[in-house]
Amino acid sequence: MPILYHELSRQFHLYNDEVSYIIGVLENGQMENLYYGARIRDRESFAHLHKESYVPMGAYACPEPSTLSLQHTRQEYPSFGTGDFRYPAYEVLQKNGSIVMEPKLVSHAIFAGKKKLEPLPATYVEKDTEADSLELTLEDALTGLRIVLSYTIYNALPVITRSVRFENGGKEKLVLKKAMSVNVDLPDGDFEMLHLTGAWSRERFVRMRPLDEGVQGIYSMCGCSSAEHNPFLALKRPDATEAAGEVYGFSFVYSGNFVGQVEVSTHDAARVMMGIHPHLFSWPLEPGEGFQTPEAVMVYSASGMNHMSQVYHELYRTRLCRGVWRDRVRPVLLNNWEATLMDFDEEKILRIAEKGRDVGVELFVLDDGWFGARNDDHAGLGDWVVNTKKLPDGITGLAKKVEAMGLKFGLWIEPEMVNKDSDLYRAHPDWIFSAPGRFDCPSRNQHVLDFSRPEVVDYIHGMISKVIREASISYIKWDMNRYITACYSAAADAEHQGTIMHRYILGVYDLYTRLTTEFPDILFESCASGGARFDPGMLYFAPQAWTSDDTDANERMRIQYGSSFVYPISSTGAHVSAVPNQQTVRTTPIQTRANVAFFGAFGYELDLNELSEEELAQVREQIVYFKEHRETIQMGTYWRLRSPFEGNQNETAWMTVSPDKREAVVFYGQTLNHPNLGGLRLRLCGLDPAAEYEVVCGEEKSVHFGDELMNVGLILDRFEFYRRGGDFASFLYTLKAI
Ligand code: GLA
Repeated sequence: MPILYHELSRQFHLYNDEVSYIIGVLENGQMENLYYGARIRDRESFAHLHKESYVPMGAYACPEPSTLSLQHTRQEYPSFGTGDFRYPAYEVLQKNGSIVMEPKLVSHAIFAGKKKLEPLPATYVEKDTEADSLELTLEDALTGLRIVLSYTIYNALPVITRSVRFENGGKEKLVLKKAMSVNVDLPDGDFEMLHLTGAWSRERFVRMRPLDEGVQGIYSMCGCSSAEHNPFLALKRPDATEAAGEVYGFSFVYSGNFVGQVEVSTHDAARVMMGIHPHLFSWPLEPGEGFQTPEAVMVYSASGMNHMSQVYHELYRTRLCRGVWRDRVRPVLLNNWEATLMDFDEEKILRIAEKGRDVGVELFVLDDGWFGARNDDHAGLGDWVVNTKKLPDGITGLAKKVEAMGLKFGLWIEPEMVNKDSDLYRAHPDWIFSAPGRFDCPSRNQHVLDFSRPEVVDYIHGMISKVIREASISYIKWDMNRYITACYSAAADAEHQGTIMHRYILGVYDLYTRLTTEFPDILFESCASGGARFDPGMLYFAPQAWTSDDTDANERMRIQYGSSFVYPISSTGAHVSAVPNQQTVRTTPIQTRANVAFFGAFGYELDLNELSEEELAQVREQIVYFKEHRETIQMGTYWRLRSPFEGNQNETAWMTVSPDKREAVVFYGQTLNHPNLGGLRLRLCGLDPAAEYEVVCGEEKSVHFGDELMNVGLILDRFEFYRRGGDFASFLYTLKAI
């Protein structure tokens, strides 16, 4: 049981082979963090690790008669008003207006396995032997509020998950104003913060900055996790690299507003917290009521950032994603969006699908524009009834025809949205978020349906499940194309307006739960104007996400590289599209477009009928190659080798290795071609040092031992790139043990 409780010292030690996390009880009954880092040997007491540099100044007040200065103590779940003047992890407003609390540990429970957090998404175990859990219950005697801090440590991965439950066990109403899912006080601030920022079409670019005194953080107040900041941050030691050094990852299993921040005190302690953004959040708790925060997932790596990412990949791919598609390689798909936008009819669609079938595609996906009066983005959203002018035999008929070709059929939906020009809006104008008496705020000419209301979710569920039930549908792309403004619900009273942003997300999760339960064989892909809701919460329901509307291969090297810090390759939707690219007007070679898209849930998004015979032959070969290697690529171990965000920022390289290390695929891509450069030794990772590998790149073949490839490197002839590739050239190296 990797959670020990030492009765004499009242300390808890969560550990596995890689990590130790030690919690103690302070003299005031609150919890303190004694250590979090690489595994250390257990002992009866770690009391000596409690070292507060008490500063005898009036400002650092301590509750009488103690000399305990909470300002200088590493706390597990700090509150405000106790002599700690840093940001608190939670805030509870009492009837008399006070926010001061004195929660003390009253009980604890240690058990094998992990409880479910439903309706919230969370990581899970398949057997109780995979993980152990600890619950610490603190109680505030005056109000009767109970705070349950939950921890789960996985046995085989350096992962600790955290969440918090608030229960009003008193007689008066309380209002929860802030409720972080995780707080970790680290003893020093000697870290760099790595996070993933962006905007539409350039999601999850890697940013790194040294920590400094004060607060640094990321957040979303958009109503979804957002393209601007992904709900993830890592603290790495300044000397940590991809291959070595200490890294702490924090990832939030939630799809709505969030905050992640690191506060470095002027005594050089670093406080990390992550949770639902307190802005727009206010949750009344009547006596007997509770509130469960979403889960945060902490990964500790003593061996660099690649290891941290590999742990997230394995955990999220196998113990966050669910359903029949979790362990399956993904079908090669063809989507019509960039080929036709909303301008199509059945004939056009069938012609595109047929060409797809001819080159080896397995799944055809019909995107936006098939329903209501949806001929452009001004009308029709919300009316989930097929447009028979475009598709006379309906979705049912079209799906049949596509299946008769030997392809599976998939469909696009955007259930959370409505155009004002729709039957749905005309019937229910109060079903959108809108502040009374204020401005209208359309974005992409659409409004957000108030999914905090169960009747709205019920209605949409009825409409969409009917379409899915009546047709043979194998895949759903669930889109969400705008952020939430004027967040006011006509169904909530003034006191409950602060609950609606979270209830909205609960409504989304509810609809996902219903549809994935009713249609367990369907492969779901989440999407939000590209990658604006690519988060672990979504992965619980949809095992893959549309990574970005930017399908330009050069941009995708960056977007996919950044996404790989947290998200498994199998979850990263990636398509080959036409050139010049619709977002960048850039022309990249079709082989590079495929080489980049191979490292994801691979597909095409263009009218194949417009390709030349030569290009079509290339596409055929690409699909043959991908089918042969997708198991290694999507289920193997992924390593970042060269960052497009560092160094000359001109080269990107990554690779995946099959679990048995017999096969590997290496990607190397460049942005601009520079003449007359020196050679490049690209050191590979994760191979069997003693195995002899045949390395194939195009027509070229050579044989090398794994240790040579990892220590000397793969010798890349840059001059050859110059000759063969030009700008945006890329190369794939396929390794097979012989
Ligand atoms: C979003 C998606 C695209 C496409 C369009 C359809 O932008 O990211 O892939 O589905 O919507 O309107």
